[in-house]
Amino acid sequence: MKRPYFSTKLGKLYLGDSENILSKDLRSSLSNKVQLILTSPPFPLNKKKKYGNLNGKEYKKWFIKLAEIFSTIISENGSIVIELGNSWEAGRPIQSLLHLESLIGFVRNKKAKLRLCQQFVCYNPSRLPSPAQWVSIERIRTIDSFTHVWWLAKSDYPKADNSKILRPYSDSMKSLLKSKKYNDGVRPSEHRIGKKSFLKNNKGSIMHNVIEIEQIDNNRAVRLPQNIFSIANTVSNDFFLNECRRKNITPHPARMPFELASFFIEFLTDPGDLVLDPFAGSNTTGFCAERLGRRWISTEVNEDYVKQSKIRFLDPILKGKKKECTNGINERNKRTGNG
Ligand SMILES: C[S@@+](CC[C@H](N)C(=O)[O-])C[C@H]1O[C@@H](n2cnc3c(N)ncnc32)[C@H](O)[C@@H]1O
Repeated sequence: MKRPYFSTKLGKLYLGDSENILSKDLRSSLSNKVQLILTSPPFPLNKKKKYGNLNGKEYKKWFIKLAEIFSTIISENGSIVIELGNSWEAGRPIQSLLHLESLIGFVRNKKAKLRLCQQFVCYNPSRLPSPAQWVSIERIRTIDSFTHVWWLAKSDYPKADNSKILRPYSDSMKSLLKSKKYNDGVRPSEHRIGKKSFLKNNKGSIMHNVIEIEQIDNNRAVRLPQNIFSIANTVSNDFFLNECRRKNITPHPARMPFELASFFIEFLTDPGDLVLDPFAGSNTTGFCAERLGRRWISTEVNEDYVKQSKIRFLDPILKGKKKECTNGINERNKRTGNG
């Protein structure tokens, strides 16, 4: 039995190639047990980067094969959530179709029997201008500022509860709830709005599938009140980054936003469920799972990243009694007086 590189109260991190670990070492112990696979795999690149991403057809083949492994280990009502950015053709101002072909191949892999439950767009307004050549130098493209987040499952009804991830009401909704007055009837969209449809206070509105990673600004009103769900980026007061700085360690360059991981864990799992990240990097997923009282398993091939991820578990926040995650949603609710 493979031994974890380190363990915590709720999780284990394994050093090594995820394909090997999940299809050999841990296959029987994980089979049908994982409630959520949450991961940002190496992105498809048209040139090799530090952490050994594959490119072109090689990438696609590798990615599609993962569907079989992932499908075996998730439970019947489990989910797979994959974050993947856009890729660009080398030396040309055009986007590659690789990430889309990879997704389609993944879902259509007959041995995996998966389906696409929903696609999310994760918009990050703070993204640096890229691809730099076409955006900042030649000024012929706009900033590529979102990643795709695909939610897949083995069943049409994986465990999910959108009431756990409500977003704050807009100011107009709040005044409507107070005044209890609005125009009912048929809207231009042909939706019929009943006399009482909007009068019940559900403690927040149901979120949309566009997620904005915003910088915290306590003085700012909700920027996109009706349609876009904003989660605050707490990166600047992050224990992990501060500790990396203090110890002179270069933090993982492609960390998943903490709040994005927390959001999907809360939406798709319950405390005690098992969450897996096969491409853990600095192990944002494991940390958020631990904080939210979920068991977790992560695998990562690069020992430096495995070592630095240990730092996350020294965060005093984990010692607090509070298991509820103060992710962007709850922070925002506090600031806006909702919830
Ligand atoms: C996009 S990063 C993940 C970052 C992570 N979500 C975080 O928050 O830090 C992808 C990671 O996958 C790792 N990786 C690449 N190929 C792998 C493999 N075959 N098995 C395990 N890990 C791998 C890379 O070393 C890299 O750290």
